[in-house]
Amino acid sequence: MKNEIRMGMVSAIKEASWGRRLLWLALVLVGLLVLIQLVPYGRDHANPPVQAQAKIANPEVQKLWDKSCADCHSNLTTWPWYSNVAPMSWLVQNHVDEGRTKMNLSEWQTMPQPDIGEVRGQIDSGEMPPWNYSLIHGGLSAQDKKVLIAGLTATYRRDPPGSISRGD
Ligand code: HEC
Repeated sequence: MKNEIRMGMVSAIKEASWGRRLLWLALVLVGLLVLIQLVPYGRDHANPPVQAQAKIANPEVQKLWDKSCADCHSNLTTWPWYSNVAPMSWLVQNHVDEGRTKMNLSEWQTMPQPDIGEVRGQIDSGEMPPWNYSLIHGGLSAQDKKVLIAGLTATYRRDPPGSISRGD
């Protein structure tokens, strides 16, 4: 009987210390989350002036572009609320900064753009938009992809970029 009581107490203490450990863990995580907000990276959120916006003639194509590509491949980025919260802000900033250096419809004439084959391949293969972007903003259906590719092909034909990048 005594032994049973002792066992009971031991397990009660163990449970309590597990609860405590979890509480500590939660506090440490919250503390870290607060601390990483102090990192200056990820707060830029600049939308540089539009130099020359590539012309997309078809409103349906424009809608698809705006929904799936414009945030990272133009200077017309809509910065969502979570782009203010680390660590998401780091990911968003990195995507936008890097995306703009590769293809930018707002600097259509002033920086080299990928050739249309590259663009088609990125959309077709589902590499663009990035999966984590699609998770939040919704992806492109097979039909959407066709319409977007045809529309961008028309843009390349009717309003060609100033120069084509040679890949990397
Ligand atoms: C969340 C940001 C983001 C979105 C949205 C996005 N991209 Fe990208 N894109 C990037 C980044 C970052 C890179 C460079 C790294 C890579 O190639 O994965 C890139 C690379 C590319 C490249 C390759 C350029 C090269 O020469 O290497 C093409 C083409 C491209 N994107 C087209 C698109 C198209 C078309 C859409 C819409 C269907 C789109 N992207 C949506 C971020 C994005």
